[in-house]
Amino acid sequence: MASDASFDNLVKKFADLPLLDRYPNCFPDINPVDIYRSHITSILQGITGVDPKIVYSSIQWTQNSDKGDLVLAIPALRVKGKPEELGKQWLEQWPESPLVEKPIQNGNFIPFFFKHGPLRQTTITQARSHRFDFGSNKAVGLKDQSDPSKGKKRIIVEFSSPNIAKPFHAGHLRSTIIGGFLGNLYEAAGWDVLRINYLGDWGKQYGLLALGFKMYGSEEALQRDPINHLFEVYVKISAKTAKEKEEADMLQKDGKDAEAQKIKDSGLDEQARQYFKKMTEGDEEALTLWKRFRDFSIKRYKETYARLNINFDSYSGESQVSETEMEDAARKMKEMGLAEEDGGALLVDFSKHVQGKAGKSLGKALLRKRDGTALYLTRDISELLNRDRTYNFDHMIYVIASQQDLHVKQFFKVVELMGHKDIAAKVQHISFGLVLGMSTRRGTVKFLDDILRDVGEHMHSVMKKNEEKYKQVENPEAVADILGISSVMVQDMSGKRINNYTFNMEAMTSFEGDTGPYLQYAHARLCSISRKAGLSEKELDSADLSLLTEHHAIELVRVLAQWPDVVQNTLKTLEPTTVLTYLFKMTHVLSSSYDHLRIVGSEPEVMKARMALYDSARIVLNNGMRLLGLSPVER
Ligand code: ARG
Repeated sequence: MASDASFDNLVKKFADLPLLDRYPNCFPDINPVDIYRSHITSILQGITGVDPKIVYSSIQWTQNSDKGDLVLAIPALRVKGKPEELGKQWLEQWPESPLVEKPIQNGNFIPFFFKHGPLRQTTITQARSHRFDFGSNKAVGLKDQSDPSKGKKRIIVEFSSPNIAKPFHAGHLRSTIIGGFLGNLYEAAGWDVLRINYLGDWGKQYGLLALGFKMYGSEEALQRDPINHLFEVYVKISAKTAKEKEEADMLQKDGKDAEAQKIKDSGLDEQARQYFKKMTEGDEEALTLWKRFRDFSIKRYKETYARLNINFDSYSGESQVSETEMEDAARKMKEMGLAEEDGGALLVDFSKHVQGKAGKSLGKALLRKRDGTALYLTRDISELLNRDRTYNFDHMIYVIASQQDLHVKQFFKVVELMGHKDIAAKVQHISFGLVLGMSTRRGTVKFLDDILRDVGEHMHSVMKKNEEKYKQVENPEAVADILGISSVMVQDMSGKRINNYTFNMEAMTSFEGDTGPYLQYAHARLCSISRKAGLSEKELDSADLSLLTEHHAIELVRVLAQWPDVVQNTLKTLEPTTVLTYLFKMTHVLSSSYDHLRIVGSEPEVMKARMALYDSARIVLNNGMRLLGLSPVER
């Protein structure tokens, strides 16, 4: 272990060097690869004289481990001369390093292979000592913060945002999954994260819903199953309203104008309008009923979100935007000449305010209808200005489906044109594609609960097929439920966000292929190995890691060492698939190592070392799964 001990000293020495602090996002105490980056940087700086910051940021990941653990593209250092010759000159001066093998140039590239001993030691030690925080920056906070006295940076993630009494469709499902993940990701990066759910809970339709509830509603059903019940009521009352309208149209066609007018004046649609008007005027009775719908729905949503490990800090919504604030905003836009009256309505014609193609593609957006009601866009604008005053955030993400791309573009643009460049600069739209082919056994209307139940049931039947394993599961229904949720989430996060994908129950619930159940299986298997080995933490701490010499052990260490870097990279891509792709790569390396790195029957010391390695793999897998929002199962 001599090499490992001297390595410990080396790490200490490095950690003390102020040099390391000069690089952004360099955390040698919690990211094994950062030690190597810094080390290689100082060697290259010595040889080339290039600014270490440039060197540091030029050292890149490789596509696969055959190409090295890190690589330098020689031209990236911007030194005059032919890259191939420069490389040759530099490598002639390469000193003996305790951390990195002597590089062998590959054309314009210099690949770096880490020495196995030190890598094994830091990776396993860091993973096991940081445990649930391995890969996260929580402990060290954000380094690129301009003023540390301000504390953590704050981010708002607005996501899910379903509409009360309407279906929770695939768009809401994806927003929920992606938003939940982004919240976790920023938390892991040391941000203060605020999760907001912006409900669709306001408008004439909620007046109609109240009328419907008086006709068809049941108090008992509302309390038991508010989401489905309100939807049923809404469907019934909408149908009745549509029928009325048809009647009125027919009457009019037959020349019975007076009768048609009577329906228009006192029919359901008009009643709904009046009811909603009472709501906007703050009429208590009208608001009480609406508030109960909202509260019961939120209560039920919370239960479902909890199954996805999601917890909102605030349930905002269209109803929460103040009418006076919207009027103020509208007045300001008019005064600025940004908004114009058009036959009583208020709109923005972007082609007049944004030059060229961009202005044309933004088109026109309605801010206020002729009858004076403010619209979705106006609400979003006022809500944003309000959040800016209330929360003092550094960044805000809106997770909204690509169908609303234009809406979000118009929304951000208006805010900018209103003179709030600072606010426009800190908001970001995270868009995503459609889910195709989603329907449940209960029909085409899908509520989140129905989807999860269907998948859970299907998962249960898949599990039953393997009788042997099924018998070992203590609470199969509960496990099937969790695996079902993992199936849905992993399928959703597998591709790039912007791609559409097809909801495929068979594929997502399979234990084979890159699926949720596969990841869960890999995790449960690691847990089972550790249970069987029955070694204490202390025994693992004292393991002699230099016994891990096999090719498979080294390959596993190399991929585990990448985890903190993967998290950093995910902060750039904001794609869940960045994490998922890594976890599948890691679990494939892991599963191919089992036959070569057996626990049962091996020497006690070898067993300890291998268990320490498997323990590190379990930590990484567990952390990755939780980052994605999954609940790792142990059996
Ligand atoms: N409730 C909206 C819908 O279902 C989504 C809201 C998105 N968020 C926003 N700030 N506009 O379409």
